[in-house]
Amino acid sequence: MSNYHIKHLEEYFQVYRKSVRNPEGFWEEIAEEHFLWRKKWDNVLSWNFSKPEVKWFENAKLNITENCIDRHLATRGDKTAILFEPNNPIEEAQHITYRELHQRVCKMANVLKGNGVKKGDRVCIYLPMIPELVVSLLACARIGAIHSVIFAGFSANAIASRINDSDCKIVLTSDGSFRGKKSIDLKGIVDVALDYCPGVKTVLVAKRTNAEIEMKAGRDKWLQPLLDNAYGDCVPEIMDAEDPLFILYTSGSTGKPKGMVHTCAGYMVYTAYTFKNIFQYKEDDVYWCTADIGWITGHSYIVYGPLANGATTVMFEGVPSYPDYGRFWEVVEKHKVTQFYTAPTAIRALAKENLEFVEKYDLSSLKVLGSVGEPINEEAWHWYNHNIGKNKNPIVDTWWQTETGGIMISPIPYVTPTTPTYATLPFIGIQPALMNESGEELIGNQVEGHLCIKFPWPSIARTIWGDHKRYRETYFLTYKDKYFTGDGALRDGVGYYRITGRVDDVIIVSGHNLGTAPIEDSINEHPAVAESAIVGFSHSVKGNALYGYVILKEVGESRDRDNLRREINQQITEHIGPIAKLDKIQFVSGLPKTRSGKIMRRILRKIASKDINNLGDISTLLNPEVVQEIIDNAL
Ligand code: PRX
Repeated sequence: MSNYHIKHLEEYFQVYRKSVRNPEGFWEEIAEEHFLWRKKWDNVLSWNFSKPEVKWFENAKLNITENCIDRHLATRGDKTAILFEPNNPIEEAQHITYRELHQRVCKMANVLKGNGVKKGDRVCIYLPMIPELVVSLLACARIGAIHSVIFAGFSANAIASRINDSDCKIVLTSDGSFRGKKSIDLKGIVDVALDYCPGVKTVLVAKRTNAEIEMKAGRDKWLQPLLDNAYGDCVPEIMDAEDPLFILYTSGSTGKPKGMVHTCAGYMVYTAYTFKNIFQYKEDDVYWCTADIGWITGHSYIVYGPLANGATTVMFEGVPSYPDYGRFWEVVEKHKVTQFYTAPTAIRALAKENLEFVEKYDLSSLKVLGSVGEPINEEAWHWYNHNIGKNKNPIVDTWWQTETGGIMISPIPYVTPTTPTYATLPFIGIQPALMNESGEELIGNQVEGHLCIKFPWPSIARTIWGDHKRYRETYFLTYKDKYFTGDGALRDGVGYYRITGRVDDVIIVSGHNLGTAPIEDSINEHPAVAESAIVGFSHSVKGNALYGYVILKEVGESRDRDNLRREINQQITEHIGPIAKLDKIQFVSGLPKTRSGKIMRRILRKIASKDINNLGDISTLLNPEVVQEIIDNAL
């Protein structure tokens, strides 16, 4: 039992050593003592990073929903599992108990079955942050269907490509969503997407906004009457440990989004174990992660990790600025939130507002503050620590990725001393390595390099849906026998890690991963555009914002520039979503290129950041003259 909940630093080091010396033994013990299995494994781990192939708890049988719901019914049936806080505070919060959750998940599972969904089928979920979203994830897991959640801010185009990539036959959506003052026509967006998805035969529609929407005969069905008539129990499908649990798309630096595949057993064990320790979760706590379930943070740390521990997890539909900038803190006070987990971009946005929005509320219930999604800058860290944590609540700066499934490097609160901007120490079982440019591991402290992981952990994504070759090339070819994260990091004098940011062409804007290539492709489709390049530049709220350099075809020369800028951003919104819009668009006559034709983004990045004194050697460029012109007209 002792290794499940780490309470002091010495214990962390001792358990960490154990987890590294004998990973199989360590994870076997955790899995055996804390989860419900229908059949135990034959072998704890087999792996080969050059294939690559990773299998945890081979041939074990389980259903994750039995672990997240059923096993709590006897002791926690009346405990709140999901605490739903609506967009508008005038609407009452909903406390969904474990017993109610069980019934709702079973009904939804039966509705899915009734609509032909079987084990292994992919189900697209495009829902706002309403209880039906959690319920539908768990309903898929109940019957062994693979959920593919698409963040409800993505455009019709983005939905269509994801639906087609994983061949979903059914979509769950709603009539609309509330976001602050706005309501958004989600169903209309789905309708446009489905014009390009001939494989989708059924759309189940939840009611949220009561907007008038069109229902396509033979395809679209209202969800509620089906749920009302469904049976409230559903025997869980017995799954193999390595059966896929879900697909979640993430942007790469090139090409279409990657459908990361997570499997049942390892994902469950690792998200549950990290949740317990990294949030020091205790039985009566009220835990709140503000992420959207459309991202991995929501999957792992709103749904699966908390529920596997029988926790109360808050699900918030709204935004931090509605009805005013005190909304987060009002919710903390109202529900006596104990752990609060958010993104640096939200902290920076709120730090800009009047402190009265914070001071109005009683935040004394808080015990742990979390940060995730991008590096947290020192100023934001101190603001968070001082004003929200009152200098007493530890901040856990948690580094991880869609691909890692769970938190990888993070302090354990009340255990690991924290340092602003440092994710500090690897979590139990995680073996990081920093690599230099020649592919050698940097040993010792005070080093900086590319961050890799040397040994598999239970929740590593097993493949990219339909493209194992790309999985290998993206993560396992750069450094032999190591998983390459795409991030840079340094290890300081005491062995603490600080993540320095992406080392590839992924830019993190407001905590969202954006690949440059798809955005450039979208811009280039504009009839007036010949070519474009995107770089990131530092932004006081978003962390990074996007700067686009655009070459116009001759036809575009005479057009109004501001109109063109609007059209380009409109096009990006349609292709990808509003999160990928450019903050600045500069029209240029050429882009700096190497003699082999590669765009020198380093130079463009410096110009966008107004750091033009140290551009390095530009004489080897194919077209050095263009650099001065770009500098002269920089925005
Ligand atoms: O660059 C790192 C950054 O976010 C990337 C992963 O993004 P995504 O797959 O969308 O998952 C986000 C939520 C887990 C990483 O490669 N990142 C995430 N957390 C941190 C971070 N960078 C610095 N510090 C963090 N705590």
